[in-house]
Amino acid sequence: MQLTDKNIVVGVSGGIAAYKSADLIRRLKEQGANVRVVMSEGGKAFITPLTLQAVSGNPVSDSLLDPEAEAGMGHIELAKWADLILIAPASADIIARLNAGMANDLLTTICLATAAPIAIAPAMNQQMWHTQVTQNNVDSLQSRGYLVWGPGQGEQACGDVGFGRMLEPTELCSYCVNYFAGANKPGELDGQTWVITAGPTREPMDPVRYISNHSSGKMGFAIALAAQLAGAKVYLIAGPVKLATPTGVERIDVETALQMQEQSMAHAEHADVFVACAAVADYRVAEVASQKIKKSTEQLQLVLEKNPDIVAGVAALENAPFTVGFAAETENVEEYALGKLKKKNLQMICANNVSAPGHGFNSDTNALTIFWSGGSLVLPLTSKQELARQLVGQIAKKFNQSPLDAS
Ligand code: C5P
Repeated sequence: MQLTDKNIVVGVSGGIAAYKSADLIRRLKEQGANVRVVMSEGGKAFITPLTLQAVSGNPVSDSLLDPEAEAGMGHIELAKWADLILIAPASADIIARLNAGMANDLLTTICLATAAPIAIAPAMNQQMWHTQVTQNNVDSLQSRGYLVWGPGQGEQACGDVGFGRMLEPTELCSYCVNYFAGANKPGELDGQTWVITAGPTREPMDPVRYISNHSSGKMGFAIALAAQLAGAKVYLIAGPVKLATPTGVERIDVETALQMQEQSMAHAEHADVFVACAAVADYRVAEVASQKIKKSTEQLQLVLEKNPDIVAGVAALENAPFTVGFAAETENVEEYALGKLKKKNLQMICANNVSAPGHGFNSDTNALTIFWSGGSLVLPLTSKQELARQLVGQIAKKFNQSPLDAS
């Protein structure tokens, strides 16, 4: 019983996955949660309120303007009652309405009126999920602190295959348990300063060209948000990425490795924790041409110069923060990660196999194995947001155990 006395509002919006909501509610109740269900009009087309009333053991709410329901537990009371709102399934429509701040039905109104965390479990056709407007809406909700659990991938009700399946009820129940058990509750990092690097760097060749890599910055941005939500003052040193700044995070935009180094060193001096999530270019062009390089010879030779190792520089500071590196590898992941932990003198290194499907660059999901001197922990494949929450919890745990010597 890991959810004893937790009050969870389960929002059910319109989608075929709504048939799984009944099972989800049962699982939450098995863990001891009190569940109240709020349905959208679309949700009721897929599963009846009577079914969800029976499994939740409470009346189901579906109308903002029903005097009887409002006299029972009104929308503001429900919004205050919740320790967590979980919308499962969350359709593209409700995601868009939440992002726009609409309050045109009971579920969206409760979401606006609550101080509780809100998690969405997206469920929709894979094309609807991938379409730019949905992705923008989800990014925007994430940057405002919404938790996004899923979607999973696989075969869909419409016959398509891809991302868009609602996570299974058992998985969603685990997310809830993890959420409440998480070390990084709001306030956990109060008074701490975290500096996080994210995204690629861009090394110019001439005024119009550069050398870079495929890093999307999503993992670093997710870590910044998770640390901020847990109470830290967060500086996010970001290479060129197209991501919204997480609410409450101070973002410093840079382009090159040298700029990232300058900002990192300046901010790390006063930091408690430094997380180097950026994919820094190992080399820069030695002499950047002042004019566009013209196409003439069959071969063009560029002389590259090694960039400074930013994270190693931070770890070598006299007053070094608790320093965490990343190791994106395609083979011998553990061996290379442990080598970097030692060589760069880090307190922790997060290794991921970027060649595995769903891991790393540009993906919305990732898995990590984190190593520290004398121990390791596997954080299995999940959304980058959830992974960031777990990672921040682990860093906080190690940092709090022994801030000066985490080994
Ligand atoms: O050596 P490698 O690039 O694999 O190490 C990865 C880790 O080192 C990441 O944490 C990355 O942010 C950091 N790094 C850095 N400066 C560099 C290269 C990598 O901070 N020039």
